[in-house]
Amino acid sequence: MTRSYRIGVLPGDGTGPEVVREGLKVMEAVRQGFDVELEEFDLGGERYLRTGEVLPDEELARLGEMDAIFLGAVGHPDVVPGILERDLLLRIRFELDQYVNLRPVVRYPGVQTLVPSHTEDDVNFVVVRENSEGLYSGAGGFHRKCTAHEVAVQESINTRHGVERIVRYAFELAMRPDRRRTVTLVHKTNVLTYAGDLYQRVVDEVATEYPKVQTDYVHVDAACVYLLDMPSRFDVIVTDNMFGDIITDLGAMIQGGMGIAAGGNINPRGVSMFEPIGGTAPDHAGKGTINPLAAIGAMEMLLSQLSEAEAAGRIDAGIRFATTKMASMRAGEMGCSTPEVGDLVAEGATA
Ligand code: IPM
Ligand code: MN
Repeated sequence: MTRSYRIGVLPGDGTGPEVVREGLKVMEAVRQGFDVELEEFDLGGERYLRTGEVLPDEELARLGEMDAIFLGAVGHPDVVPGILERDLLLRIRFELDQYVNLRPVVRYPGVQTLVPSHTEDDVNFVVVRENSEGLYSGAGGFHRKCTAHEVAVQESINTRHGVERIVRYAFELAMRPDRRRTVTLVHKTNVLTYAGDLYQRVVDEVATEYPKVQTDYVHVDAACVYLLDMPSRFDVIVTDNMFGDIITDLGAMIQGGMGIAAGGNINPRGVSMFEPIGGTAPDHAGKGTINPLAAIGAMEMLLSQLSEAEAAGRIDAGIRFATTKMASMRAGEMGCSTPEVGDLVAEGATA
C-alpha cells in the first residue's frame, strides 16, 4: 500500500502564501512512493481582521489530526503585537506539545554571509530550542498596572520533565551519523542560578547515558561571540526557549540570512509543524521577490520527520544546486524571482 500523509497547509500572511507555494511545488517534484492530501487552513492576520477569529478550537483540533503542518508566516501590520504570536503560533506549539524547536544552521554552497571568513565546513550545527515552557509560558502578570508603582512579572517556568525531554532529544540527535557527537548547553548559569542549575544538572545526568557524546557548556553571551568567531565549535546546541529564539536569528545570519533559515516545531510522537523562521516580510508581499529557500528547507525537514528520507535528501540536493545559481539570498537581490528559485530547486532535486 502506498504511504499517504495528510498535510495541513497554513500559508498565513504577507509572503507566507508565496513561499508555501514553492515548498509544495518542490515537494510535488520529489514525491515518489507516497501520496499527500493537503488541507488548507485560513489562519493569520487577514482572517483575524476579517472575522475576529484567531484559532477556533475546531480548527486546532483538525490541525491535531494531520500528519504534519506546513506554515508560511503569520503577522499583520494592522494587528496589535502579541495576539497572533500568543494565540495562534504559540498556541499551536503548546497545545500540540511541539516541545522541540529544531533549527539547523547550515551554510550552503555559494552563499554569501555577513562573516565572509566562514567556510561551509565552519557552519554546520543545529539548535535544539526548548519550545514549550521557559519565559514563553505566559506566567506572570501586572500589579498596580499603569500607576507609578506598577509591577510587571514575567516568569520563566522550567520543569524537570520539560528540561529532561529537550536534553534527551539533543543527545539522541548528537548520536545520528551525520552529527559530530557534541552537545553544548547554552544558558546563563552564572546569573539564572535556578533555571540554569536545573539545565546543567539534567545535562550532566543524561550525559552519563551517552558516553560517546561530548558535552560542553557556554554562557549565552559568549555563545554569541563564538557563533561569529568560531561556529565550528558547535554541533548540537541545547538551550531554553528565549535564548534559543535569540541565538537562532544570529544563526540565520551566519548561514546567509532569514531567507534560508528553516525550522521545525516538533512533537516526536505527535504532529509537528515546519516553517521558515523569518516573518511575513510585508514589503515584499506579492512581488515575487522573497526567497523561498527557507520554506523549501522547512519542507525538507517535514519530509524527513515523516521518514521520507529520500525525498528530503533530494530537496537538500536541490537547495544546494539553487544556491550556487542565485546572486544573493536577500529578498529582491536573488537575480531571479520567487517561483524561479522553486524551479531551480526542483531542477537540482530531480537531476
Ligand atoms: C520565532 C518567532 C516567534 C518566537 C514569535 C513570532 C512568537 O520569533 O519563531 O522565532 O519568538 O518563537
Ligand atoms: Mn524568533
